[in-house]
Amino acid sequence: MALAADTGGVMLRPMTAADVAAVLRIERAGQPVPWTEGMVRDCLRAEYWNTVAVDAAGEVVAFAILSSGGGDAHVLNIVVDPACRRRGIARRLLDALMDAARERASDQLFLEVRAGNTAAITLYQDLGFAEVALRRGYYPQPGGGREDAIIMARAL
Ligand SMILES: CC(C)(COP(=O)(O)OP(=O)(O)OC[C@H]1O[C@@H](n2cnc3c(N)ncnc32)[C@H](O)[C@@H]1OP(=O)(O)O)[C@@H](O)C(=O)NCCC(=O)NCCS
Repeated sequence: MALAADTGGVMLRPMTAADVAAVLRIERAGQPVPWTEGMVRDCLRAEYWNTVAVDAAGEVVAFAILSSGGGDAHVLNIVVDPACRRRGIARRLLDALMDAARERASDQLFLEVRAGNTAAITLYQDLGFAEVALRRGYYPQPGGGREDAIIMARAL
C-alpha cells in the first residue's frame, strides 16, 4: 500500500507486529470490551487487510481490519485514537477498506456495531451502509449484561 497524505493529515500503511502495542493502546482507549493482544496478532497471522493510520510524526493514531472471502468482506475492527477523532480519519480508513474489499472481489461489505454506538452508526449510514439484521444480546458489556448488535451492509 502506498503511503499517501490525505484527509485527517494521516498516512495509511500496512500494520506490522511492531504496531501491536500502539494498536492495543488505541483499542483499549476506544472500546468498552477491548480485543486482546492475541486477537490482534491472530489478525496479522491471518493476513487480513490490517492497516494503520499514522500522523506526521509516524505515531499510530488509528487502525482498521478487514476480512474477505466468498464474495463478502467484513469490517472486523476500526478504532481512532480519542484525541484524533472528528478529523475524517475513520472515513479515510473506510474508503481505503472498501477499495481493498473490491480488489479482493467482494461484492458486499458487512459490519457489526453496538446498538448504542451512535458515532459509528452515523458514520456508517453516511457511507451508505444500511441495517440488515439485529443480533440480540450479542456484545458483552463492561459491567456485565449484554448489548444488541446491529448488522449493517452495503454493496461495493
Ligand atoms: C466511530 C469512530 C471510528 C469514528 O472515527 P472518527 O475518525 O472520529 O470519524 P470521522 O472523523 O471520519 O467522522 C466521519 C463522520 O462520522 C460521523 N461521526 C463520527 N463521530 C461522530 C460522533 N461522535 N457523533 C455523531 N457522528 C459522528 C459524522 O457524520 C462524521 O462526519 P462529520 O465529522 O463531517 O460530521 C470513532 O469514534 C471511534 O474510534 N470510536 C470507538 C471505536 C468504535 O466504536 N469503532 C467502531 C466499532 S463498530
